[in-house]
Amino acid sequence: MAVSETPLSQPVSQVITTISNSERSENMRVLVTGGAGFIGSHIVDELIIQGNTVSVVDDLSEGSLQNLNPDARLFNVSINDAPALEKAFAEAKPEIVSHHAAQISVRNSMYDPTNDAQVNIIGSLNVLQAAVKHDAERFMFASTSAVYAKPQRLPMNESHPMMPESVYGVSKLSVESFIRLYSNTYGIKHKIFRYGNVFGPRQNPHGEAGVVAIFTGQFLRGEQPTIFGDGTKTRDYVFVSDVVSASIAAMGDAGDNETYNIARGIGVSDYEMFDTVAAAADSSMHPKYAPVRPGEAEHVSLDPAKAREILLWRPRVSLPDGIAQVVEHYRRTH
Ligand SMILES: NC(=O)c1ccc[n+]([C@@H]2O[C@H](COP(=O)([O-])OP(=O)(O)OC[C@H]3O[C@@H](n4cnc5c(N)ncnc54)[C@H](O)[C@@H]3O)[C@@H](O)[C@H]2O)c1
Repeated sequence: MAVSETPLSQPVSQVITTISNSERSENMRVLVTGGAGFIGSHIVDELIIQGNTVSVVDDLSEGSLQNLNPDARLFNVSINDAPALEKAFAEAKPEIVSHHAAQISVRNSMYDPTNDAQVNIIGSLNVLQAAVKHDAERFMFASTSAVYAKPQRLPMNESHPMMPESVYGVSKLSVESFIRLYSNTYGIKHKIFRYGNVFGPRQNPHGEAGVVAIFTGQFLRGEQPTIFGDGTKTRDYVFVSDVVSASIAAMGDAGDNETYNIARGIGVSDYEMFDTVAAAADSSMHPKYAPVRPGEAEHVSLDPAKAREILLWRPRVSLPDGIAQVVEHYRRTH
């Protein structure tokens, strides 16, 4: 596929900003893969607010033009198309690469492991290769709690044993290894973020990741939400603007070549999440239950102390406040 630049006129559906002045970055050329998706588009918005020149590589397979900031330059290419990606890098000349494009479904990774590996390993390697070839200074990567083994302690810090329980986790862990190898071999600086369960406006309510978006959509459409398992499964939820502020805090040299958990350090059960979203959506519905899906961990919470100490990052948005923003956004856009 050839590189295409798409003129953009769509307004951004919502910009949420809780970034403080102390986290402001210098003006840089930044390329965000997956910048038309949920997390990537919020990062793009904040980078543009702060005066950076932002390019986006996204094949729009899941992301959309509605998410995309009109001041970003879109390269509508797949990260699996190495020649087109190469051309995008040659034109954008990024100093920083923020790699967020991915196949994000744990479930799909189990049903179609080769596709997961194709996008999440080979595609990521293409991005990394292009970043090195075009002299990018820094590579940031959206990794995941799914790289860790079954928890031996909670919350897990970055040195917790790793033994992914899904193909998605294996792919992400192998990309982490490639990034460290390229950093050591070619000198490109890096920061790896292991996100907890990110939630916020623009998350796809029809996907299968993102329980806040899914519950919100179901409550507001009057459908009965499903809890997979018995409701006691826990996840560490972090609001998307807090994830954005981690990226902004990581733009400079401080804390390079390290891996950081970006999460709240708190496990929230499916029951508690169900009740909190129900309250925000003014619903009195009860859940229905289905068996746990393959590859899903029982309990997850991540210790964010390292990001707090080195990047001076801290999550600011509480679960109820974040959920209220998701419900408000869904009501406004549907
Ligand atoms: N959402 C979470 O809770 C969470 C947690 C941990 C890690 N992550 C990681 O964060 C990143 C962003 O996730 P998200 O929730 O915003 O997902 P998303 O699906 O909204 O965004 C992914 C973007 O990548 C694009 N994309 C997919 N395949 C592509 C390809 N071959 N070439 C170019 N673009 C492609 C999609 O169109 C989409 O815009 C992913 O790498 C994901 O694995 C997300």
